[in-house]
Amino acid sequence: MMIKNSPSGELGIIHNFNAGPSILPQEVIEQASKAILNFNDSGLSILEIGHRTSLFESVMEEARSLVKELMNLDDDHEVLFLHGGASTQFMQIPMNLLNEKDTAAFADTGVWSSKAIKEAKLFGNVDVVCSSKDHAFNFIPKDFAVPNDAKYFHITTNNTIYGTQWQEIPEVSVPLIADMSSDILSRKRNFNAFALIYAGAQKNMGAAGANLVVVNKNILGKVNRAIPTIMDYRNHIKEKSMLNTPPVFAVYVSMLTLRWIKENGGVEAFEKRNNKKAELLYNAIDNSSIFIPTVNKPDRSKMNVCFVMEDKEIEKKFLDFAEENNVYGIKGHRLVGGFRASLYNALPISSVEYLVEKMEEFEKNL
Ligand SMILES: Cc1ncc(COP(=O)(O)O)c(C=O)c1O
Repeated sequence: MMIKNSPSGELGIIHNFNAGPSILPQEVIEQASKAILNFNDSGLSILEIGHRTSLFESVMEEARSLVKELMNLDDDHEVLFLHGGASTQFMQIPMNLLNEKDTAAFADTGVWSSKAIKEAKLFGNVDVVCSSKDHAFNFIPKDFAVPNDAKYFHITTNNTIYGTQWQEIPEVSVPLIADMSSDILSRKRNFNAFALIYAGAQKNMGAAGANLVVVNKNILGKVNRAIPTIMDYRNHIKEKSMLNTPPVFAVYVSMLTLRWIKENGGVEAFEKRNNKKAELLYNAIDNSSIFIPTVNKPDRSKMNVCFVMEDKEIEKKFLDFAEENNVYGIKGHRLVGGFRASLYNALPISSVEYLVEKMEEFEKNL
């Protein structure tokens, strides 16, 4: 929530429902702004300090240890902040874990899973063990089996575009890998059950430019291909995520966001708030006669709430009405249409209450 100039030129509160990059805590934005001018009273900007200075090394160390603490990770799990966004992980994972003759299993639950599948095929075999493609990705598959000889099983815990989310983590006998880009740190999970977790920071964890990778070190070093130095997770682990110049400012913003999450009760507290926000909005949609949910109840995402209207003209009117009322970023992804309200950690409950109020007002005056 931010005070700034609205499109009508007046000062107002902006309710930011963007899917990513997305809302950040106001405190984080203020601290990051100060650090651009004078970082930790060094007289230098965070943008102009060397990454091998103790000033930045302590930022990286704090960011990594906060992830460990907030996700309750054991000693086998290493934390890295890398470049290249979540999309780089689509190829870096199979490069590190999949031999040419090996098979990786995937759940295909949308665009991001499909992209991960496409890249894995460059390195080995892929077995898509379940898919919701035939139903416009509007549910999470339940009945499937992962072969015991698969090298790993990959899921996308939250499908940002379609608004579906794995509520339960599937129990499988092979290493589990998850793209958590759009629900990282938003709810409790047994994170140690995962062999590898990755997430672009730009939704729940900070600004664009940094990519979180949590990896169980025991799964590494088992492929027989040559891995380029910068792509080999082991090198990043050895160098404590400082193999080359890290995305300094983006890591700093992530560190501030992680501190903010800790100060505000940690993942458990955010899960409670996020559940409340999602419940408020889904109730409003379910009780409305013009807004239609696109996802069946059990699979609904607590992070990205997708809904449509029957009449596309009225959809357009509501979008205009929302923007006039300082509700930003609720246009649905072009593949789904309609609306998508993203309820990431930094979005206050008051913004959801406000959106619901505006939805009711619009419906009443239609
Ligand atoms: C679930 C998911 N995975 C991957 C990506 C791609 O992330 P990046 O743009 O950081 O490569 C996104 C982007 O929105 C996403 O939502």
